[in-house]
Amino acid sequence: MAPRPQTRWGKNRPPERRIWLPLLLLSSLLLAVASLNAVAAFLRRANDLGRRCAPRPAECTAGDVTSPRRRIAIVSFSDESEGGGRRSFRGVRAAVEGNKRAYAEQMGYGYVDARDLVDRSRPPNWSKILAVRSQLPLYDWVFWNDADTVVTNPNTSLESILEAALGHGDFESSPDLVVTEDFNGVNSGLFFVRRSKWSENFLDAWWNQTSFVHFGSTKSGDNAAMKHLINSLSAEELSVHVHIPQMQCLFNSYPWVPSWKSVYRLISSPVVTWQGVYSDGDFMAHLAGLDEKKKWIEMVLVVEPLSNDKAAPNSP
Ligand SMILES: *[C@@H]1O[C@H](CO)[C@@H](O)[C@H](O)[C@H]1NC(C)=O
Ligand SMILES: *[C@@H]1O[C@H](CO)[C@@H](O)[C@H](O)[C@H]1NC(C)=O
Ligand SMILES: *[C@@H]1O[C@H](CO)[C@@H](O)[C@H](O)[C@H]1NC(C)=O
Repeated sequence: MAPRPQTRWGKNRPPERRIWLPLLLLSSLLLAVASLNAVAAFLRRANDLGRRCAPRPAECTAGDVTSPRRRIAIVSFSDESEGGGRRSFRGVRAAVEGNKRAYAEQMGYGYVDARDLVDRSRPPNWSKILAVRSQLPLYDWVFWNDADTVVTNPNTSLESILEAALGHGDFESSPDLVVTEDFNGVNSGLFFVRRSKWSENFLDAWWNQTSFVHFGSTKSGDNAAMKHLINSLSAEELSVHVHIPQMQCLFNSYPWVPSWKSVYRLISSPVVTWQGVYSDGDFMAHLAGLDEKKKWIEMVLVVEPLSNDKAAPNSP
């Protein structure tokens, strides 16, 4: 590399100027950090500022009151044997499980921890398919929850989420898979599966996508496999069986964390960011891709406390 030519800011500049430069850099840095925090605070108020994740209840057609109440289960597992690392899951199960169990109990849903079903021949995230498949015969709807998700507004029922997503509450005419999209397309961290032959077949086909199995990174391939399967459906099959709500924040909100990646995404995909960013009042927060998940869970839960005291058995 050629030596840099000396500029007029070189050795001979007066000493006062040498003080200004670092001060200028420092204040720009502080300004940048302050504006990032301001952006985070702004996005966190998205719902106050008029964003609507779901239509108002009155805009949904009322569910058929004569139909039986649907059996719904929240299915999850947390694999803590994954160990430490920066993207630590340690302690997440303790922080989240009480939250989910209390919510399920309050609403009359099943809660299934499918930890025992983890198939060690693949990265643990793949076993969500086995977990959902195992519960499908027992429930009408299975709601899969990744371990790094928490219920932040326990007053919201899953029925109302489904109804908001589908525009009706009729089980028989419902699609079989309800899943949201983020910057990368569909996100398999949170999704609903309806009990049906199509769903069983879809889950089996998903499990069969062995070419996507990938060890040794945060991307284990299960999400890519789901995306691939959905993309390979015909337009007709897609429209009948899969529903992707427009608003990601209906049940899969991502907290906005000041980082260069978030800033890049905010600038390159402002609409996707707005539709998916976690705001106070949202039903669920998903700490996808965040390090220090336990800290984030505590932060989200502290500001949006659960109405039910039982819901936080792990707090001191
Ligand atoms: C949930 O409902 C309870 C009582 O119905 C109310 O006091 C509380 O503020 C509600 N919480 C949220 C987050 O809406
Ligand atoms: C999945 O693979 C198994 C074993 O190869 C096969 O019997 C089954 O039909 C496949 N299912 C689907 C839905 O692709
Ligand atoms: C499993 O999924 C979670 C949540 O989406 C993700 O943060 C984590 O990195 C995944 N783990 C692996 C091994 O893929």
